[in-house]
Amino acid sequence: MPTTITKPGCFATLVTNAEYGLGAAVLGQCLQDYNSKYSTVVMVTKNVPEATLTLLASTWDVVLPIPELNSNDTASLALLQRPELGVTFTKLHVWKLTEYKKVVFLDADTMPLCNIDDLFLYNELSACPDAGWPDCFNTGLFVLTPDVETYDGLVKMAADEGTFDGGDQGLLNSYFSSWAHGDIKKHIPFVYNVNPNASYTYLPAYRRFSKDVKNIHFLGSSKPWHYECQDGAIIGANVSQHLRGFLEQWHASLNKALIEEAAAEPEFIQFRSTGGSISGGESVVSVLSHIAGQIKDKDTQREKVKTGQL
Ligand code: UDP
Ligand code: GLC
Ligand code: MN
Repeated sequence: MPTTITKPGCFATLVTNAEYGLGAAVLGQCLQDYNSKYSTVVMVTKNVPEATLTLLASTWDVVLPIPELNSNDTASLALLQRPELGVTFTKLHVWKLTEYKKVVFLDADTMPLCNIDDLFLYNELSACPDAGWPDCFNTGLFVLTPDVETYDGLVKMAADEGTFDGGDQGLLNSYFSSWAHGDIKKHIPFVYNVNPNASYTYLPAYRRFSKDVKNIHFLGSSKPWHYECQDGAIIGANVSQHLRGFLEQWHASLNKALIEEAAAEPEFIQFRSTGGSISGGESVVSVLSHIAGQIKDKDTQREKVKTGQL
């Protein structure tokens, strides 16, 4: 009889394009830096560029191609003011990682500030309250048990009832609807999923508890990769002090991931380290265009190979 090897657990995230790839590179880098003892799995869809896949391969244990799912619920997504989030349905694939007993899913826009392996003590479905509607859980971080039956149940519910926010969070809150009033042991403390933009709503608590924050979630349409960072400092005046600090930390981790990758693959992405910043102050925007340039060069090269020019 074949034996099924079940691994204890993994951290997982989702990437469908180059931008979220930068986020996942930072997340993978942080999990490594804080010596997680669990495996890491990044789920990627077909449009993720090759350069992003290479970057992810240096920061994650497993880069797993999966098919894209989309809610196509434009009306609810308009209400959320995030038309791009239908694709977050792809997160449901995490229930198919059945070689792991337990999975901690993290959005690609999260940044752990310390080792967070203790999350594996929680059981399905555990998550933190959403800062906007605390009787819902936020799906930027959740603990689950992979099971194809649950996956099928979620897909069926999506087909029968849709999702109230157009993304995975609405669907998962409907499916695991006992979370708000059920077992309190499934409520993970908010310090594991803190949105630095939302903290203005309760600054006194922020001042009191910020030293305990374990994981940052850059929730909302403005993401760390949209900011320019030069010589370790975020450019732009309109950023609160604590957000600025986390953004700078995010950019420092991205630099580290890029530099480590460059060391491993010098011919592919050649960034030189200058005291922690990318090539003496290159911004993420230019890194993205650099990556895009690399892809174009590679495609041109492939074309040339095909047409016998090389
Ligand atoms: N995501 C992705 N591509 C997209 C949009 C989202 O890969 O175009 C994934 C990514 O892991 C991301 C998660 O889905 O972190 C949820 O989206 P986002 O973090 O933007 O939602 P928010 O937390 O801001 O509501
Ligand atoms: C949220 C969550 C995110 C989720 C999105 C769509 O605000 O932070 O993880 O993907 O809504 O449901
Ligand atoms: Mn997010």
